Amino acid sequence: MIQFPPGFRFGMATSAYQIEGAADVGGKGPSIWDTFTARPGTVRHGEDGRTAIDHYHRYAEDVGHIAEAGVQDYRFSISWTRALADPDFYDRLVDELLTAGVRPVPTLYHWDLPQELEDRGGWLNRDTAHRLADYASAVALRLGDRVRDWITMNEMNVHTLYGYALTDHAPARGLGLAALPAAHHQLLAHGLAVQVLRTHGAGAIGIANQHFPVSAAGDDPADQFAAEMFRNLTNWTFSDPILLGDYPDEMIRAGIGTSGAQLDRDLELIGARLDFYGVNFYEPTAVEAPREGKDYAGVLEVDIPEGLPFSPVPVKSDERTDFGWAIVPGALTEILVALRDRYPALPPVIVTENGASFHDAPPGPDGRVHDPRRIAYLDAHLRAVKAAIDAGVRVDGFYVWSAFDNFEWAAGYDERFGLVHVDQETLSRTRKDSWYWYRDLISGCGATD
Ligand code: FCB
Repeated sequence: MIQFPPGFRFGMATSAYQIEGAADVGGKGPSIWDTFTARPGTVRHGEDGRTAIDHYHRYAEDVGHIAEAGVQDYRFSISWTRALADPDFYDRLVDELLTAGVRPVPTLYHWDLPQELEDRGGWLNRDTAHRLADYASAVALRLGDRVRDWITMNEMNVHTLYGYALTDHAPARGLGLAALPAAHHQLLAHGLAVQVLRTHGAGAIGIANQHFPVSAAGDDPADQFAAEMFRNLTNWTFSDPILLGDYPDEMIRAGIGTSGAQLDRDLELIGARLDFYGVNFYEPTAVEAPREGKDYAGVLEVDIPEGLPFSPVPVKSDERTDFGWAIVPGALTEILVALRDRYPALPPVIVTENGASFHDAPPGPDGRVHDPRRIAYLDAHLRAVKAAIDAGVRVDGFYVWSAFDNFEWAAGYDERFGLVHVDQETLSRTRKDSWYWYRDLISGCGATD
């Protein structure tokens, strides 16, 4: 049994668009994910999140699956368009969690921008950051008497890369490096949200940033340069402004489209103190300088535009999840240590997402879902967290992605990350072996508040 420091918090994580469904219930307006999924060819089998796993209607049962595992925290996201039209839903959810003894940890923004704001430029428009602050204020007014812990933004790097630089996620802009202003405006939104949440008396504020080690595929200086640039663009661009007060290099500074006194003021806001720093981790990345004549199409699941000075290549690994992601638990220790070394002011870390997709068989005659590979994955990654703690990194918690099988963005419903199996036809829930394993681990750790 792995032992964690007293007070270590175990949790589960989800996001609104991936589970809620009830797309138009209560006057909820569309988000960019409703628009994106309605376009043919965007999602693997043309699925969408209109019903998702119908968490909106089944939240009480779902809170049971969360609470009975013994987790201290539940990280979910608030749908911006729902919160404005039908905030009662989040009242009910928060009350249900608190009654069950689980601490709600809402994320304000997990990629589902109101379509109305996209029509006005989305994250390329600076004003979107101010609109997020208004929305944060409305939500804090409504829930702030019961919610203590807040996460502002989720994986601004993935949203910028897949949604703005490439076309794999909403809003599918395909701008290449011209996507950088979307990064800055999300960071500004984070800074403004921190300010708003503090005004409303928030107890603890953090962010959920995805991080991963980036290695060069070879010793060639061109590969080293490519890796350095990719690392800056996908990792440090989203954390240096928060934890060091500036962007990692001149090229990025020039690309974000804000400068001078305005940038100085923005960086001041963005660099506001946080109470915890959320790290989402899945797999490391390897990068090379593009080789003349090499066909990169199909090397990875995403199409990288031509002309960029780097090309991600598959990481060497003996083991992969069914999503094809490399299983390298040591990379989690490595990135946690790297964050500690890079940022003297790093707040206590919470691993706000970690988990794996395996294409689990539905419940068999014994009524169980056997997912030994997910258990092995989570066990190895929790040990990797423990190794980071032993190396002196302060890590205060670990949230499994995800509580339930759900809508995995452009991959649809094939990719199952849940501790709880969801039958996509009947929407019935079945606790997987990994759910029981997690429950036993938590009770064995005797983690307390
Ligand atoms: C992360 C996302 C989350 C989920 C996992 C598998 O990048 O934050 O919504 O899709 O990957």
